[in-house]
Amino acid sequence: MLEVKNATKKFGELTAVNDLSFEVSQGQVFGIAGPNGAGKSTLYNLITGLYPFEGSILFNKKEIRGFAPHAIAKMGISRTFQIPQTFPSLTVEKSIGVGNHFGSQEGYDPSYVDNILEFVSLEDKRDELTGQLNLLDKKMLMIGAALATKPQILMLDEPMAGSNAKEILALMDLIKRINKDMGITIIIIEHFMKVLTELTQKLLIIETGTEICCGDPVEVTNDPRVIECYLGDVNDKN
Ligand SMILES: Nc1ncnc2c1ncn2[C@@H]1O[C@H](COP(=O)(O)OP(=O)(O)O)[C@@H](O)[C@H]1O
Ligand SMILES: [Mg+2]
Repeated sequence: MLEVKNATKKFGELTAVNDLSFEVSQGQVFGIAGPNGAGKSTLYNLITGLYPFEGSILFNKKEIRGFAPHAIAKMGISRTFQIPQTFPSLTVEKSIGVGNHFGSQEGYDPSYVDNILEFVSLEDKRDELTGQLNLLDKKMLMIGAALATKPQILMLDEPMAGSNAKEILALMDLIKRINKDMGITIIIIEHFMKVLTELTQKLLIIETGTEICCGDPVEVTNDPRVIECYLGDVNDKN
């Protein structure tokens, strides 16, 4: 469904994404992990059309390199950001409505917005301003707004960051339901290996923009090269 082929992104002297190739199949939950600064968010920025790059990215066999972010969103690729991005002066319902209005090919559909509000457990807070939501609800809202665009692929960037154990369980449950009940393919960047081994069917590890290994999540997390690059990260937190 998504084929990244020899993607390379340089910022001046720095190679943030270095000749990465991988394939995500329809219906899969595909994980991406690696130390801070590995190039994970940059890779999302390439897929979603924010930066020019070398290489090729095919979505449903069609080249999407060179398309603008809104065009790629309309094709069916939606994402969330590492730091929750919401419109603080809009209500929860309107925020999801904005995603539906601008992202969905079929245009605004109030009953679909209601479905999403229920799906992300925010129906009771539909009239609250998003700026007043707690962190978990902000994350739920950001995922809801992404879902409102009716994506084929949802890309999540460290959705569990800053969450406690209970919130992590709620987010994992939501991600499983998005994949199973809505049939949406998911790419997830995450640091928590337990989350990745439970949620994903395939896991890609990158370090300094380069693939370390890619495959079955349990095998990958036990790979000595992966353990080594994570031990390096413990001494290198920023
Ligand atoms: N817009 C940018 N301009 C210059 N350097 C950038 C830019 N975005 C990211 N980088 C650099 O690229 C590298 C990868 O960053 P990033 O993709 O955010 O890593 P990760 O998400 O894996 O923590 C880092 O060294 C970062 O400083
Ligand atoms: Mg990042």
